[in-house]
Amino acid sequence: MNKELLEKGFIPDEICKVLPEGFQDIEEIASSLHKILANNQITNAVNEITQEKDLSKLTNSELERAMLLYSYVGHAYMWGKEEVEDTIPENIAVTWYEISEKLDRPPILSYASYALNNWALLDESKPLSLDNIRILQNFLSGVDEDWFIMIHVAIEYEAKNVLGSLKKYYLDEDFENKNLEDALTSIKKINEIMNRMPEKCDPYIYYNRVRPYIFGWKNNPATPKGVIYKGVEKYKDEPQLFRGETGAQSSIVPALDALLGITHSNDPLREYLDEMRIYMPSEHRGLLAGLDKFLEEGPKNKVVEHETFVNEIIGEVHKFRNKHLEYAKDYIFDQALKKQSNSNIVGTGGTPFMKYLDKHLKETVPKDD
Ligand code: HEM
Repeated sequence: MNKELLEKGFIPDEICKVLPEGFQDIEEIASSLHKILANNQITNAVNEITQEKDLSKLTNSELERAMLLYSYVGHAYMWGKEEVEDTIPENIAVTWYEISEKLDRPPILSYASYALNNWALLDESKPLSLDNIRILQNFLSGVDEDWFIMIHVAIEYEAKNVLGSLKKYYLDEDFENKNLEDALTSIKKINEIMNRMPEKCDPYIYYNRVRPYIFGWKNNPATPKGVIYKGVEKYKDEPQLFRGETGAQSSIVPALDALLGITHSNDPLREYLDEMRIYMPSEHRGLLAGLDKFLEEGPKNKVVEHETFVNEIIGEVHKFRNKHLEYAKDYIFDQALKKQSNSNIVGTGGTPFMKYLDKHLKETVPKDD
């Protein structure tokens, strides 16, 4: 396990903003995706993309950019037409698949593309904050869509402080009480950022204009058998089932749970969260596997000494999950009721989320409870 990642955070060191020569077609389509979608032109646009792409010289950050562009265009193709088809054409499917093989995660829009690799600083001389982020790629564009992603990015940036401090406390030799104080200060900042979601992301717009594009093909009534990636030899024209983009693919909360000893008894959301790991960058996946072992080893002696502090931090994770559950209700559940389509309310990843998010909230409790 690369425990240094906890101090470094999950946002990559380098984010590529434009791909080199040879990728102009996909860059151009992605940059006008909002207009293409507004004008129902996605099929024509995708037909113009050439299949042959040389991925061999791309750096890791360029591969991430390529994954981001193909994922956005692929999802726009799937969800931006009047009639949903179950086949992605060869000219994007093959390259999308090849990139995904290199990055070792499935060819679908995942959190790493949607949030972690999808931003730049407005002012390079200042640190990342909600006032200093611009989102690189979106579907329909607009403040609600950007703000939804910006909140995730700002939380990821702050999370390196809470996780880094907890790492020093639990995993390093020379730990001190101050590590816990720092962790508490940082998780409080995360909650302040989380609370700002409604400032610029309206539940109606989120439900009707942002969310429809990030669904996956697994457990989705629109694609009951999955989706065929035309021309991908390994898939042999058989439909593939992949989950959609969700914050559940962020490594922050699983890492916090593991370090703080928060466990969830078996339920569909827990199984789903484990499944989410295949959609994460492999380095993050490796870290979480290492932290699983740490959790299995049982309660840490250090905890006894500073139990009150640790419990205060757990209390903040509880607040985070509580606000998150409130958002799941306001942004999805209530919106679905308004549309009278409540028969099958599932998250973008495909879980009956209200019941299980509530269960995970109730399991986020201090150790002496
Ligand atoms: C309007 C805002 C949000 C809504 C409506 C929302 C919705 C959901 C839903 C429905 C799930 C259930 C699983 C699924 O179907 O994917 C989920 C899971 C999750 N989301 Fe969000 N989410 C929001 C914001 C965020 C933010 C800002 C984060 C921060 C990284 C986040 C992190 C998570 C995590 C970690 C899980 C797994 C649940 C757990 O571990 O208890 N979400 N979200």
